[in-house]
Amino acid sequence: MPETAAAGLRIDIERLSARLAALSEIGGIAGTEGCARLALTDEDRAGRDLVVAWMRDLGMDVVVDGIGNVVATLAGRADGPPVMCGSHIDTVGSGGRYDGNLGVLAGLEVIETVRAAGLTPERPLAVGVFTNEEGARFQPDMLGSLVYVGGMALEEALDIEDSDGAVVGAELDRIGYAGAAPLPGFVPHAFVELHIEQGPVLEAGGTTIGVVESVQGISWQELTISGQSNHAGTTPIAMRRDPGLVAARIMAFARDLADRFGQPQVATVGSVEFLPNLVNVVPSLAAITVDLRNTDEAILQKAEAEFATFVAEAAEAEGCTVETRSLARFEPVRFDADVIGLVEATAASLGLSSRRMPSGAGHDAQMFARVCPTAMIFTPSQNGLSHNPAEYTSPSDLEAGANVLLQVMMSLSSEESR
Ligand code: GLV
Ligand code: MN
Ligand code: MN
Repeated sequence: MPETAAAGLRIDIERLSARLAALSEIGGIAGTEGCARLALTDEDRAGRDLVVAWMRDLGMDVVVDGIGNVVATLAGRADGPPVMCGSHIDTVGSGGRYDGNLGVLAGLEVIETVRAAGLTPERPLAVGVFTNEEGARFQPDMLGSLVYVGGMALEEALDIEDSDGAVVGAELDRIGYAGAAPLPGFVPHAFVELHIEQGPVLEAGGTTIGVVESVQGISWQELTISGQSNHAGTTPIAMRRDPGLVAARIMAFARDLADRFGQPQVATVGSVEFLPNLVNVVPSLAAITVDLRNTDEAILQKAEAEFATFVAEAAEAEGCTVETRSLARFEPVRFDADVIGLVEATAASLGLSSRRMPSGAGHDAQMFARVCPTAMIFTPSQNGLSHNPAEYTSPSDLEAGANVLLQVMMSLSSEESR
């Protein structure tokens, strides 16, 4: 294909925005622009069905693998591994319409743009939808892409349970997305993910494109603290074994730790449950989750160690016991220097401002970085908001990001083999 034909291509932002809006109606949260489409729920199934229908309408070959990842391919002039983009369409329970969905639907927009121009890419182009990226329902996060790249055995992944005891394998069967495509999946020529930044950096700097160089390490743990349930009025303070108090101390410690370590260390207690959770009963049990992240693996390990020491001391001081379970643990990831450079050069060639940056959030691309040259493109998030129905990126920023994705994919499609 002549370079000039591809270089002049531009995506259609109306079409992309219409697909984002249509998908966000599935599991839409009333009164907001956001949605709740937890992995492998009926809403996830309906969202998948819509996206797969669009893929088929675009003449793509669609396959589903054993963990429910959907990969759609547009044939190229040459056989061989496709240039792949993609992301996820599951959301957290209080999600926006852009997180993940943008990467998938911009991928479809790339395909539609190429087809509408009557062009055939040199290498095939593929768009992936990866199962349970959020990790909000099943842990770990990035589950589908992790299994795709061979980072977890399918059997192990299928046995994972959510907090209500529902199992990944059964839920995949139930929604009709337990497919037969082989795992680990084929290794793409390269992988590129367009995603909203989900943080404040691009907006604050008035920058349109984030050239993502790395993803910070993630450590998720669940702590189950056990004590003695008793009467709130009659039990003297000195006689209590209160797991709620231990949980509260741990929560405060997590913030203090992040303050002490400074950016980029972050620490979040995002879920707290007490048993029996009643006004006049000292709880018998407190279950909390902790999310620690850092771009530096050594510092993340130090944070984990200090945290573990504090948890043990706080529990012992209150006569409580603690069980700790790791829910997810991924080391920081660096992306491919050539693909990073291509994203940066492409943004410049389109007249878009850009800056190199790490990702604070986890992404499917970090799994693909294990097997093929990979990088990411970020677009700004208004007020830095994400995992929130108010998540918003302007149409002009979406358009810019999708045009960078289009040009990067076309360049990777026609480059000489590495
Ligand atoms: C996934 O979205 C994460 O970074 O929590
Ligand atoms: Mn995401
Ligand atoms: Mn997310």
